Amino acid sequence: MTVVIGSDHGGFELKAKIAEHLKEKGYAVNDVGTDSQASCHYPAIAHKLCTELGKDPDALGILICGTGIGMSMAANKHHGIRAALCGDTYSARMTREHNNANVLCMGARVLGEGLAVDIADTFLSSSFLGGRHKTRVDMLSLIEDGRGDELVP
Ligand code: RB5
Repeated sequence: MTVVIGSDHGGFELKAKIAEHLKEKGYAVNDVGTDSQASCHYPAIAHKLCTELGKDPDALGILICGTGIGMSMAANKHHGIRAALCGDTYSARMTREHNNANVLCMGARVLGEGLAVDIADTFLSSSFLGGRHKTRVDMLSLIEDGRGDELVP
C-alpha cells in the first residue's frame, strides 16, 4: 500500500521518523514535503497531499503539523477526503473502522514519537467495517455535495 505523507515545519522531524519506520515495514512512501525546518504554510502541504491521494484511491495519507489541527481543517476541505486528527490508538482504529478515514492527522508538538508511530501503525493496519457505517459515511458525502438538507427529516 502507498502512504502519502506530508508535514509543515512543525512536523518535519516527526514526518522523517515515521516515513523511515513505514519504509522499513514495507510501505511505499510518497513524501510530499516539506523538506526542511524552514517555516512554510500547512494548507499548501495538505492540498498537495490530497491531490496525490485523489490519484490513488487505495492510498492513505498522514499529515503532521504542530497540533494536527490546521492540517485536518485544510485536508477536510477537499472532496473525498476524510481526515481524522488522532492522539490515541483507539481513535486511530475506530476512525478507519467506522469513518473510513483516509487521512490521519497528528500534532508533533502534542505527541511523543513512540505514540505517534503506534498511532500511524494502528491507522494503517485497520480497515473500514462497512455496513451501517457505510450508510453514515455516504451521508458525509451528501453533505460534501451540498445535499445535507436531504438528511434532515
Ligand atoms: C505552525 O507554527 C503551526 O501553526 C502549525 O504547525 C499547526 O499547528 C497549525 O495548526
